[in-house]
Amino acid sequence: MTSETFTNRYLVAGNYAPLQEETSTSALPVTGELPRELNGRYLRIGPNPRGDVDPATHHWFNGAGMVHGIRLRDGRAEWYRSRFVESERGAPNTNVLSHAGRILTLIEAGRPPVEISPDLDRMAVWDCDGALSRGFTAHPKVDPATGDLYAITYNPRHSSLRYVVLGADGAARHSSDIDVDDGPMVHDMALTETRVVVLDLPVTLAAARRLAQSGGPLTRLPLTWDDDHPARIGILPIGGTAAQVRWIEAPRCFVFHVLNAFDNADGSLTMDVIRYDRMFVRDVWGPSDSEPTLVRWTVNTARGSVNEEVISEYRVEFPRVDPALTGRAHRYGWFAGFSAHGLMITDDVERDPADGFGTGPLVRVDTRTGDTTVHDYGPGRVTMEPAFVPRPDAVCEDDGWILSVVHDAHADRAELVVLDAADLGAAPVARVHLPHRVPFGFHGNWIDDDELA
Ligand SMILES: [Fe+2]
Repeated sequence: MTSETFTNRYLVAGNYAPLQEETSTSALPVTGELPRELNGRYLRIGPNPRGDVDPATHHWFNGAGMVHGIRLRDGRAEWYRSRFVESERGAPNTNVLSHAGRILTLIEAGRPPVEISPDLDRMAVWDCDGALSRGFTAHPKVDPATGDLYAITYNPRHSSLRYVVLGADGAARHSSDIDVDDGPMVHDMALTETRVVVLDLPVTLAAARRLAQSGGPLTRLPLTWDDDHPARIGILPIGGTAAQVRWIEAPRCFVFHVLNAFDNADGSLTMDVIRYDRMFVRDVWGPSDSEPTLVRWTVNTARGSVNEEVISEYRVEFPRVDPALTGRAHRYGWFAGFSAHGLMITDDVERDPADGFGTGPLVRVDTRTGDTTVHDYGPGRVTMEPAFVPRPDAVCEDDGWILSVVHDAHADRAELVVLDAADLGAAPVARVHLPHRVPFGFHGNWIDDDELA
């Protein structure tokens, strides 16, 4: 395929197209009433390549990130700001969160975090005094009991994965290198109260190298499906080393994201993941080869087996759980769902890989019953990744708010929409009107002012 015959949807199509300028807007209009308990920032990030990009090789996962921030305080939306992430070492584009009082933008595969000031105007590489010099991950997990942060990282220049633990104070605590074959893409991980789970699945650097040698279609993301790479998960004690990893064969699939995981009384481990039957096979420019399915893996560590059950048939991605329950038994997951209102795909039409990735409503799944509840934002309105924010002194698991950026295709604008998580059938609690669209990207988080104190 050549650039003469190929349109790269991630550079030109609707709300995938990157923005060209940074903006700052104060005193944003609000429909409804912002909860006065929400004092902080909602931040989200996605790839926003600048300058000349070759459409023949551009991959959605590449390109320097742009951060979008909405400041809420005392029931007001004080500002919206968009900023290109600046770094000489490759600018993160995948996640933005806080740890140890720092706001960090994150990406996997060899690049360290870039710290951003609370007003979004200052940036600097933060590699934890060299502990993250090999790079980091977009999906670390924080133990809510200790505040310690756990990460599985990989770097194309090294054959091993690196398990890294950072303390709640931001200092490096622990590191161990885990040998793997073929250079697997390790986008996420799972954490329980006692164990860490490594995903070693068949999307690899080695397969992309073989594809390059055979003259296949190439992108700047050197990762493709690998027919020769076994699917397995590695389980190690939370403070353990590579020598303690127990490898167990996993269902043959790819997983970008883990909803949550927890230990069971009988010694088994439960992890809820978004499973794809295959990834980067026909379509190497973006994630579209198969449908995302929410499944529960029950891992019997004594027998070394994984049992898989489908939790919900509803197509969902960007899974989120109450952060207070990370590593603990959860009931609810919140997701961006796919529906007939989605911009890119419909439920009843076979997906064409050229259609790409498109979401629609907010979806809540009760993982105990499989019951699925939906909040539809309306025709042409699609949500990006939600975040669940517990109400202060929450009395139950869904006592809080769902915050997400919603794209309105008709207005070509975005809103930050706040829902009551326990009443998804109700109209939004508040809608903050942003000055322009926010391109489809990856991940976002609510960062309370208390986290930066
Ligand atoms: Fe991700």
